[in-house]
Amino acid sequence: MRLLVCGGAGFIGSAFVRRMLALHDDWQIVVLDKLTYAGNPDNLKPVKDDPRFRFVHADICDAAAVDAAIERAGGVDAIVNFAAETHVDRSIAEPEAFLKTDILGTHTLLEAVRAHDIWRMVQVSTDEVYGSIDEGSFCETGRLNPSSPYSASKAGGDLQVLAYHATYGVPALITRGSNTYGPYQYPEKLVPLFVTNALEGEKLPLYGDGLNVRDWLHVDDHVDGIAAALTAGEPGEVYNIGGGNERTNREITAIILEELGLSWDTSVRSVTDRPGHDRRYSIACDKARAELGWEPRVDFDEGLRQTIRWYRDNEWWWRKIKHGTGEFARWRKRWYEERA
Ligand code: NAD
Ligand code: DAU
Repeated sequence: MRLLVCGGAGFIGSAFVRRMLALHDDWQIVVLDKLTYAGNPDNLKPVKDDPRFRFVHADICDAAAVDAAIERAGGVDAIVNFAAETHVDRSIAEPEAFLKTDILGTHTLLEAVRAHDIWRMVQVSTDEVYGSIDEGSFCETGRLNPSSPYSASKAGGDLQVLAYHATYGVPALITRGSNTYGPYQYPEKLVPLFVTNALEGEKLPLYGDGLNVRDWLHVDDHVDGIAAALTAGEPGEVYNIGGGNERTNREITAIILEELGLSWDTSVRSVTDRPGHDRRYSIACDKARAELGWEPRVDFDEGLRQTIRWYRDNEWWWRKIKHGTGEFARWRKRWYEERA
């Protein structure tokens, strides 16, 4: 299998690359990544000298660069697209890049699949496209009802994929994953932000009443679901990939504090809520179980505690991000000062 993995220097994309190269001797992977603030060559350190791996620094919106990467690889069998702007809060403050990458970038890759002889494209999407649900769970035919510029852009990407399949027969399919946690996640998202803040003696900024619910999925389970969709999924189909671990943000915060031996009263600060904050995400994953033979395997409590310990033991990885280029500090000032 020769793969073009777009966005492979990010959190989930790099986990996919590391895991697929470890599992499959005969897979070759070209990572194409723009290296935005969230893209990090350190995430690919474990595979950088592997002869089956190559890195191309490029933007998925740049059609000529995408074509060149495919041609230089001598063609690819599949594209797996992780490349996206991914942080909901940034999409509220600075939405333009989301529309460009998450919609136009997806369109560019679909055109590349049309132009080259490519067997499959997997578009990595999110449960956020369905929006909030108070009770029950969304299956794949659920109405798209996004609330943020991020989820609206991801929904736009999904609709392009389905339209390209219906119109041109492009062999693309979609996975919609739930909230993912694990090592190497940029420390703007809830779990790595709270863990690293706690390790630095900083407050944990909990939005609103902290009772919003997310369905937590270990990154290894997520990438296994994406791999199963790549090898066993049908073009034109959508597959929900959820962890089955619905927890409030207060519950996640309590586990982090307990694992690090800290108290709620001295560590947590309630801050102004995120605008348009979805209350609860929930997806039904029977289709992935039945048709892909996939199910999540990582026990949530153990997976989260291992993840917390990984950040505790790998300060070299996150300290560079939080205190290096100034981008993290700029974002913290831009977003959190007004919520304090
Ligand atoms: P991330 O922010 O950690 O990484 C995104 C990667 O895409 C980075 O390496 C970045 O440099 C790259 N990128 C951004 N714009 C690009 C462009 N124009 N051209 C090329 N590369 C570009 O994201 P993540 O959390 O790993 O998410 C990966 C995918 O999974 C995204 O599509 C996201 O929507 C989806 N997803 C994420 C989660 C989650 O909880 N993190 C859950 C479900 C789905
Ligand atoms: O559901 C899948 C989605 O999960 C992915 O598509 C997104 O790319 C990913 O970022 C994630 O989105 P969320 O908005 O759910 O994740 P985030 O980590 O930003 O927030 C999780 C919850 O924690 C949410 O209810 C908001 C809350 N939160 C978050 C931050 C950053 C806080 O209370 N305080 C914070 O500082």
